[in-house]
Amino acid sequence: MAYRDLREWLQALDANGELLKIKEEIRLEPDVGAIGGALCELQGPAVLAENICGYRDARLTLRLHATLPRTALALGLPKGSGPSDQTELWRKAYKNYPLKSRTVNRQDAPCKENICHGKDVNLFNFPISRLYTQDAAPYLTKTMVITREPGSDWVNFGMYRMMVLDRNRTSIMTSPTSHWGRHYTKARRLGKPLEMAVALGTEPILPMVSSVRIPVGWNEFDFASALRGEPEEIVPAESVDLPVPATAEIVLEGIVSPEANVFEGPFSEFTGAYSGAMMMPSFNIKTITYRNNPILDNVYGDRSSKEGHWMSLVAKCVTTEQALKPLCPSITQIAYLPPHTFNCVIQGKWLNKMEPRQAMLAFWAAEASIQSKMVTIVDEDVNPWNAEDVMWAISTRCQADTDIVTVPGMECRLDPSMEPDGTTCKFGIDATKSKHPHPRHTVSEWITPSIGIDAWKEKILRLIDNAREQ
Ligand SMILES: Cc1cc2nc3c(=O)[nH]c(=O)nc-3n(C[C@H](O)[C@H](O)[C@H](O)COP(=O)(O)O)c2cc1C
Repeated sequence: MAYRDLREWLQALDANGELLKIKEEIRLEPDVGAIGGALCELQGPAVLAENICGYRDARLTLRLHATLPRTALALGLPKGSGPSDQTELWRKAYKNYPLKSRTVNRQDAPCKENICHGKDVNLFNFPISRLYTQDAAPYLTKTMVITREPGSDWVNFGMYRMMVLDRNRTSIMTSPTSHWGRHYTKARRLGKPLEMAVALGTEPILPMVSSVRIPVGWNEFDFASALRGEPEEIVPAESVDLPVPATAEIVLEGIVSPEANVFEGPFSEFTGAYSGAMMMPSFNIKTITYRNNPILDNVYGDRSSKEGHWMSLVAKCVTTEQALKPLCPSITQIAYLPPHTFNCVIQGKWLNKMEPRQAMLAFWAAEASIQSKMVTIVDEDVNPWNAEDVMWAISTRCQADTDIVTVPGMECRLDPSMEPDGTTCKFGIDATKSKHPHPRHTVSEWITPSIGIDAWKEKILRLIDNAREQ
């Protein structure tokens, strides 16, 4: 089932026991960060805070996509659907693309319930906070940043964080190699301003699509529609020539500066480290439209429990698979292991000892996996989703002097251990047995379990029960 907007999805999370509503008054700082931290430690539910000090009718949500059961619900699947059901749905979206989105009239678009232009534009009317104490300013982290490539019809959206600079200005943080970066660079070369719209608080498929690389030139609204199984509802923005989601809670519209002209950061990264301050372009907001009683949805997470990881996990597996499979048909599965998508595992039914290395090279070349750092290649008998299984393969099928491949000078922008010039050394671990035609490796399979384990499991549980009763 497809949700029309964030509000319908919140109802579904609530019905599935995945939403906590906090009705007591909270302060933006330090409560929002503290609630986020507590939820990470407790592996707790998503949160809707309904009573925020200083705000009459605005609400905020945190950690809506922060677990696999919640991403299952976001995709309209039952809560218990694991990675394989979820990846199947993403694969189907690739097959069904494009499913055309539907343009609705302005009067049928809830995001137009309130419209502010010019001096009435004020970001401080919305409950945007710092999430960690040393963030340079309040941040919007769960953004859907919409731009059109100058001179073409390609409309792209992506998740790019934005630091609030004042009532009508933010920064935007990204690199020239991102899809947003491509649009921006082209606009600069043509000497044209880049128009931009940012949707906040949407139905749950859009943030997931925003957080991964859909191929260059694809219309991401039409891809999201294919994933959703129903057309996305879009509406023209008020002051820029871009489509925006009709049911978004808040939409910001404006122009990006032609130069990187503001300091962005420090910001608390998903790696567990702060990024330093960098020069980035600014976004000058001309218009804000929003729903009555708007809900601001933001991402909060700590190093080990990052919403961004779970939100993009399954999607990243499929976008990486789509890029790699045509080059390496022996690949059978792709997984990204927690705590974040720096770590990829590629499973294959390898034909020879060269293929695992070809898979590494394809992985490093693909745009879909450009922000990842390490890749481990395993055989078909190793479950790539299971960290213990993968460690078993590394410790029993890998010789460090010959099976670890390093590639310096690569992009992985947020790696806190990067070189001073901003590059990272990526590495691949060949943990397959194919390269060691030694008899020991032909027998290093999982040991066959003893006969009768299941019967004994039942018996032991009965004995434990009996002992408890006595
Ligand atoms: C929560 C979250 C925040 C992100 N913030 C940024 C960011 O600030 N800058 C950036 O370049 N990528 C960021 N990303 C990764 C991009 O969203 C990702 O590269 C995506 O492919 C961009 O979409 P696009 O390729 O369609 O433009 C973020 C991802 C998540 C999940």
